[in-house]
Amino acid sequence: MTTWVALAFLVPLIAWTEVFSSDISCPVMCDCLILTVNCSSRGLFSVPAEVPLKTESLLLSENRITDFDNKMPFLPRLLELDLSINQIKQLGRVSIFQNLTELRLLDLSKNKFRTLFNGVFCSLHKLETLVIANGHLKFIDEHVFDDMSMLKHLNLKGNSIHSMPISWFYDLTNLEVLELDHNEIFYLNSDTFSVVNNLLYLSLSHNRIRGINENAFMGLRNLKTLLLNHNHVTEVPSAALQPLKQLKVLVLDANPITQLGTNNFNGFAVEEISLSNTTTLQMVDRGAFRDLINLEKVFLHNNINLQYVDPHAFINVPKLKILLLHKNNLSALSHEIVNRRPTVHLTLYGNPLLCDCNIRWIRNTLEQSDNSSVVFLDLDKLRCSQHHKLNFFPLKSLDLANISAQCEPVLVDSLNETVETKIGESHEFECRAFGIPQPRIYWILPSGAVLNESNNGLQVQGKHPGTLALYHLKPKHSGVYQCVAENKVGLASKNIALQVENVDIGLFPQRVSSTFVTVVWNGTARNNFPEYDILYRIDNQPREKYKTVTVSYVYRSYTINNLEPDTSYKFCIAVKDEEDGDYIQLSCTHVQTRDLSFIMQGIYTSSNVAVAVVLGIVAGLLLTVCFVSVVAKKYRQRHYETPEKSLISHMAHVPPENFNSPLMSGVGSCR
Ligand SMILES: *[C@@H]1O[C@H](CO)[C@@H](O)[C@H](O)[C@H]1NC(C)=O
Ligand SMILES: *[C@@H]1O[C@H](CO)[C@@H](O)[C@H](O)[C@H]1NC(C)=O
Ligand SMILES: *[C@@H]1O[C@H](CO)[C@@H](O)[C@H](O)[C@H]1NC(C)=O
Ligand SMILES: *[C@@H]1O[C@H](CO)[C@@H](O)[C@H](O)[C@H]1NC(C)=O
Ligand SMILES: *[C@@H]1O[C@H](CO)[C@@H](O)[C@H](O)[C@H]1NC(C)=O
Ligand SMILES: *[C@@H]1O[C@H](CO)[C@@H](O)[C@H](O)[C@H]1NC(C)=O
Ligand SMILES: *[C@@H]1O[C@H](CO)[C@@H](O)[C@H](O)[C@H]1NC(C)=O
Ligand SMILES: *[C@@H]1O[C@H](CO)[C@@H](O)[C@H](O)[C@H]1NC(C)=O
Ligand SMILES: *[C@@H]1O[C@H](CO)[C@@H](O)[C@H](O)[C@H]1NC(C)=O
Repeated sequence: MTTWVALAFLVPLIAWTEVFSSDISCPVMCDCLILTVNCSSRGLFSVPAEVPLKTESLLLSENRITDFDNKMPFLPRLLELDLSINQIKQLGRVSIFQNLTELRLLDLSKNKFRTLFNGVFCSLHKLETLVIANGHLKFIDEHVFDDMSMLKHLNLKGNSIHSMPISWFYDLTNLEVLELDHNEIFYLNSDTFSVVNNLLYLSLSHNRIRGINENAFMGLRNLKTLLLNHNHVTEVPSAALQPLKQLKVLVLDANPITQLGTNNFNGFAVEEISLSNTTTLQMVDRGAFRDLINLEKVFLHNNINLQYVDPHAFINVPKLKILLLHKNNLSALSHEIVNRRPTVHLTLYGNPLLCDCNIRWIRNTLEQSDNSSVVFLDLDKLRCSQHHKLNFFPLKSLDLANISAQCEPVLVDSLNETVETKIGESHEFECRAFGIPQPRIYWILPSGAVLNESNNGLQVQGKHPGTLALYHLKPKHSGVYQCVAENKVGLASKNIALQVENVDIGLFPQRVSSTFVTVVWNGTARNNFPEYDILYRIDNQPREKYKTVTVSYVYRSYTINNLEPDTSYKFCIAVKDEEDGDYIQLSCTHVQTRDLSFIMQGIYTSSNVAVAVVLGIVAGLLLTVCFVSVVAKKYRQRHYETPEKSLISHMAHVPPENFNSPLMSGVGSCR
């Protein structure tokens, strides 16, 4: 026994003597123990020049190192290098780590460098963990991670990274953990992760993600955890989530999502979904959670606007165990949600509960008089809404005998009384109601017609459960719409005044000759109409019919020929109503054509203009070519800097693969 203990002390001692007595001795200022050289927090300004050859772990954290002077000690056995919390301003363009071929862990967190150039990690073929957290990283060349096929853990959180080119990941086929949270990423491109098939954990929380391409998560077939909380995502990226067959945990907290609709989460193996801490989420509709056979935990708490969870929000979710709904704005919750299931644990405190028939089943669970499978984790904290005559009355002390079994519908407060829209826009009215029996919801249109989900007009559609959708709005759609919720006990209704305002898209004459006029116009912001009609006729001749020309929405100007000289014309731009063939006028203008003597002049100026335009275009092209090549040479990393706004606005036109300029590929990579 004692021999073993003695040996246990001796072995490291022998190792120590072997390492540190033979060749180089321990650097002054540092502690050397076994194969670790600890120079942390020693106020060092540079990496010690001489470090024992056999060192496996070199700790240089919390010093004042600013530069490597192109030198690193030759340490062929080094496994771990910690350079975190220093002042390193740049890593340079050559592999400063080239003599550390055995390195497994490199920590460069909390330094000052902003750029990673291609080639800086060449020779780190065996690196398994790379940590560059909480630094100033902004630009990362496309092939920086080339040949790092052993890398398992890449941590780049807390930097200023804008975009992730697919080429970062070409060789990272063994990557398991990728942390990119707290950066400035704003869009997830298609196929970015297509080769990182072994990724298990992906954190993209606390970025500025607004858009997620449908194929953004393609290839992540082993991913278990996806964190997207604290971004700017406005709807559940349902299509993008489809390839994540092994996903267990999905976190979408604190995103501006307003509604969970039918099939938003559909048919994958997820066990836990969280969408809490939003100020926007208002409704969880029928079938929002559907065919999620492994789903056990759903966190929907702290959504101060959440007013409605549909009785059939969960369809075929057999394993649901925990449902958190506390601190929302729910006035009731249907028993259907938890009925006929294995035991569900539920929270509901901090909601303004209506203490009418709707809470009877909740009160019942106290008595355990029904064989309810639900367990409230917070029954003591449940209280009636302050708007109720029993304000703040604890649910627990309500007399079951005083709660009726049925009650009339109560509308969820999801509708504004007046809604103003512009011509060509779309609008959806969401009407929901509580009540027992479950109320039937329908809409009464301004015409008096009753509309429910079985109506499906082109422009006016009723949708389950209580949504009225209006498309391509015209002024004639203005009026009062009434939502009615009805059950056999009573009914509730609410009127909404819809006002569809005309828009003036501004029609102006741009060039006027004696026989032709060029008119220009603005168009609507969102291209609400597929085409416009330009109508024109001689002024003050109401009996003359308008002539019409149809132009696509992509145009912003048009030239009308064969006009009478010296005559006043009226030009209008309008859209045709598909239903009744009437025109909806968007703007008009009056133009007096020039007299005949202007013809020659007109041709003269126009040909001059034409020549000037051609010359201008040629000169412009030349300039652009020069500019592009100069820029490409000088600022190779500049494409990362493209301002977020301009990228967003171009997204509609530019295929995502163009975001990363091909100018860069291959430059300075390891091969
Ligand atoms: C290295 O040295 C610092 C400062 O003396 C100490 O706080 C730290 O625990 C040491 N680290 C190891 C791994 O020994
Ligand atoms: C690598 O080691 C060689 C030989 O000791 C040395 O000449 C070279 O400067 C070292 N490179 C770096 C980047 O430290
Ligand atoms: C939600 O917000 C509360 C306070 O606003 C905070 O304490 C809590 O950590 C947040 N939860 C999540 C999951 O972000
Ligand atoms: C909660 O809903 C009520 C109506 O039911 C509404 O008046 C109130 O503004 C809502 N509260 C919040 C924080 O949205
Ligand atoms: C509860 O279950 C028991 C046995 O399973 C049954 O006898 C009883 O009638 C049930 N009570 C109610 C209220 O459904
Ligand atoms: C129940 O109703 C009775 C008679 O209407 C009333 O006296 C009693 O206070 C009520 N109990 C509760 C808890 O509201
Ligand atoms: C109601 O009106 C407010 C203020 O105009 C607006 O912010 C909100 O989105 C509207 N709500 C709905 C459901 O249209
Ligand atoms: C929809 O309305 C029609 C009459 O307008 C009625 O016959 C039908 O039953 C209604 N459907 C539902 C689901 O309420
Ligand atoms: C036309 O568009 C320009 C800029 O896009 C805007 O400044 C102008 O006010 C618009 N004019 C009209 C009449 O809408």
